[in-house]
Amino acid sequence: MSTPSPFDEPETIPNARSIAKREESALDALTLGHGLRLEDLVDREALSEVCKSFFMLFGIPVRIYAQDGQMLADAVQDQAICSYLQGLRDGRAACGATVAAVKGGDPGPTGDATHPCFTGAMYRIVGLDYDGRRLGRVILGPYLPLEVKEVPRSLLKIDSGVDPDKAKELLPKMPRARADTVTRIAKHLQAVLDLILFSGHRALLTSQMHLASVRESYRELQERNLKLTESYEKLKELDRLKSNFLATVSHELRTPLTSILGYSEMLSEGIAGSLNPEQLEFVGTIREKGEQLLALIKSLLDQSKLESGTLSLAMGDVALADVLRDVASTLLPAAKRKGVELSVKLPPYLPNIRGDAERLRQVFLNLAENALKFTETSGSVKLIATTETSTEPPEDDVGFVLFASRPTAILVRVEDTGIGIPPSERGKIFDAFYQVDGSSTREHGGTGLGLSIVKRIVEMHGGSVTVDANAAGRGTVFTVRFPLN
Ligand SMILES: Nc1ncnc2c1ncn2[C@@H]1O[C@H](COP(=O)(O)OP(=O)(O)O)[C@@H](O)[C@H]1O
Ligand SMILES: [Mg+2]
Repeated sequence: MSTPSPFDEPETIPNARSIAKREESALDALTLGHGLRLEDLVDREALSEVCKSFFMLFGIPVRIYAQDGQMLADAVQDQAICSYLQGLRDGRAACGATVAAVKGGDPGPTGDATHPCFTGAMYRIVGLDYDGRRLGRVILGPYLPLEVKEVPRSLLKIDSGVDPDKAKELLPKMPRARADTVTRIAKHLQAVLDLILFSGHRALLTSQMHLASVRESYRELQERNLKLTESYEKLKELDRLKSNFLATVSHELRTPLTSILGYSEMLSEGIAGSLNPEQLEFVGTIREKGEQLLALIKSLLDQSKLESGTLSLAMGDVALADVLRDVASTLLPAAKRKGVELSVKLPPYLPNIRGDAERLRQVFLNLAENALKFTETSGSVKLIATTETSTEPPEDDVGFVLFASRPTAILVRVEDTGIGIPPSERGKIFDAFYQVDGSSTREHGGTGLGLSIVKRIVEMHGGSVTVDANAAGRGTVFTVRFPLN
């Protein structure tokens, strides 16, 4: 059984704190040059290799210690005489004392010291310096100096149990070396380690610089992220305030407006006495403008409901043909006044869709009103409904309807021959309050809310709305598509 050498010590396993500490000191190495540590510069494997190759070359045990006394690498062999003395009580104690002294031995300012053993053997303690700083030490030994020819008295009297013959037999098995040879070995070892330290330092600096720059970019990113989140939250809050404001104001405007409309209607009907033609005309204008204002307020209310997600649909079966006819008849008088031809074109059969008839009417009224508004005299506005069909057999196909086409969607086109919308504007017109001509001097009235409401209501019905130039060469086409399922 081999007795453990007193040089042995339990392996230290790095924990999170020691790693953090190491990072910290490595960063020190980068920034201030303080706290540079041997174990940060070279890995233990490299040190181990150096120790092994020196041991193989010269046969003298080598150990490398960090400045804090931690052993980093070694290449050793049990010495027969040492193992023998370890088996004796006093011998073992003396051995332990020697090793402790050697381990704690300071190579001093010259960086070179020796420590004798009572066996006559020697230890050489050499400082490991880098960049003017002591990072650790190398211990060479034990080795037997050439001049020790016989078993010294100090060995024989160390323990009453020492057998002189045994000691005489075992001591010469220790590697022998001349002092100047050991000096050369030590110098050589120092030079090799210096080289390793230099390249290790360079690698450490590079990796630390990289680490620092990554950390810095990460920190910057985090900061920007935080700012973005803050702005986003602020915007969300503003948006909410705006919606609240819209809802409140619209509601408060509607109440008095209802009275204005009601009283002007009573006046024009002569309930408060008959009016002369001029008075009748004035009251008519009050009513007309009041209706416009009411429509505007309704749009604002719809918009805020759509934004807050509180608009609900009264779903039912809707015949789009009826809706389109109704829209056309509503706008016919205005179209006539303007000299614009308004027509509705329907296929012989149009399937019903699920939806809110009143809201769908609003959609097509908005689109048709726009078409009429942006079309000059002698132009035309057409409401055209078609079905999209598929000849694919349905999944539950039984065979004999193989070639019958099934409608898969209803398309409604609102075509006009008006001023048209430049392609670059087509993506923006569905935004709330957006108008192509947003100037205060623009010719056409409106708030820019119509299309935004149209888009949202259509989407609530599972449909979509797109805009294109009119193939007729002038004007615009809005296409609303409702898939049938
Ligand atoms: N048929 C159309 N022809 C030309 N421009 C249109 C047409 N429909 C909409 N637009 C453009 O889109 C803008 C937004 O329309 P809309 O949301 O209905 O708002 P508003 O009608 O209140 O201006 C209009 O101001 C106009 O610039
Ligand atoms: Mg409009």
